[in-house]
Amino acid sequence: MSFFTKKSVNEHKTIDLNKLMRLAGEVEESATDGLVSAESMEELSADLGVPQEQLYAGLGMAGSASMKLEHDVAFVVCTGGCQGSGALACVSELLNLRDDLVDEGSAAFDVIPAHCLNRCQSAPVVEVRSDDGTAVLAKATPESLTEAVGELFD
Ligand code: FES
Repeated sequence: MSFFTKKSVNEHKTIDLNKLMRLAGEVEESATDGLVSAESMEELSADLGVPQEQLYAGLGMAGSASMKLEHDVAFVVCTGGCQGSGALACVSELLNLRDDLVDEGSAAFDVIPAHCLNRCQSAPVVEVRSDDGTAVLAKATPESLTEAVGELFD
C-alpha cells in the first residue's frame, strides 16, 4: 500500500489571485462604456505581453467591465475555480477557433469569461448560449470544444 497521494492528472496551473486582480483592473481601464471587444482584448494582450486567456480570466473577475457581444452565439467559460481543471486551455482553444472562423469570413461566436457557472463539480464548465437556448458542456476540453464548434459552424 502506498502512502503517497497521486496528483490528479487534471490539475492545471492557475493564475495567482493578485495577478488576476491586476489583470481585471487593466481590462476595466481599457473598457469603453464598460465594454471590451475581442479586438481590444487582443490589443491589450499584445501591449501587456500577457496571454489572452489570462486577460479573459481577469475580465471574468472584473466588476465594471464585460464583453461586447458581436455574434449570435456565445461560448461562456468559467474562468474562476475551473482554471484548476483546464479552463484557460479551453479559452485559448476557443479564441483560436473563433479567429479561424473570422479569417474565413464565416459566422463566429463570442467568448465570454464568467467567474462561476454553478456546476463546479463538472469543471471545467462551458455554456453555449444562443437564441435556441443554453447547452452545457461539462468537463470541457480543447478537443470537445473543437468538436462543438465544428458541429455549430461547419
Ligand atoms: S468554479 Fe467553475 S463552475 Fe463553479
